[in-house]
Amino acid sequence: MSLHNSAEFGEIAEKILLPGDPLRAKYIAENFLTDAKCYTEIRNVYGYTGTYKGVEVSVQATGMGVPSFSIYAHELVYNYGVKKLVRVGTCGGMHEDLNLSDIVIAQGSSTDSSIVKQTFGNAINFSLLADFDLLTKAVLNAKNLNIPVKVGNVICTDYFYNDYSNAQGIFTSNGLTLDQKMIRHGILAVEMESAALYMLCAAAQVQGLAIFTVSDHIVKNLHATPKERETDYNDMIKIALETIIQD
Ligand code: HPA
Repeated sequence: MSLHNSAEFGEIAEKILLPGDPLRAKYIAENFLTDAKCYTEIRNVYGYTGTYKGVEVSVQATGMGVPSFSIYAHELVYNYGVKKLVRVGTCGGMHEDLNLSDIVIAQGSSTDSSIVKQTFGNAINFSLLADFDLLTKAVLNAKNLNIPVKVGNVICTDYFYNDYSNAQGIFTSNGLTLDQKMIRHGILAVEMESAALYMLCAAAQVQGLAIFTVSDHIVKNLHATPKERETDYNDMIKIALETIIQD
């Protein structure tokens, strides 16, 4: 038991997939895992353990955003001994080459969240990085599965609806808005959890990787439907599962 999870110690695998949406956790458990058993329903934020190709794997929903994600991920690592965490989420494309349903792997996570400053103050701008071993395996697995992926830096934001970043005149210099500057500096996409994952994994010395399917494009103004957000992510899940089961 932990404060937000009713699993007994030992019921959660050391390897875990982390979608935000509880129904996506259920979908992954029912469609990809063998003999999946639900171990928590607290707040309807479901978690399951089963096997994938004979290896024990769990899938735990986390809710949306840094604070919600941090609560579930912290308890998984510190209360249940989870060692490999792969976030499987959605993102808003920013790079012009991205379209709906494309896959992005976060090599690095830039953020407007305060979690880095809460840890290091103004002394350093700590780099939030994917685990190199998981990252290289994921890229290789995607190649073997013939699934194109884009790998690079993402922006993990506390805003889904941001009144400011696109506003002309705010955060502009050289005639560029903040979003335009980020794109120019290679930011591929926007999402809301990877910084929390990479910060926690750095502190706890466990392995973390964030993979996303593009569900929105903030420049092209594209949006997937709620139903597509629930189920249209099989390629990302295949990459995540093939990666997490490898030693
Ligand atoms: N913004 C932030 N997070 C997201 C988005 C977005 O447009 N789409 C999916 N996650």
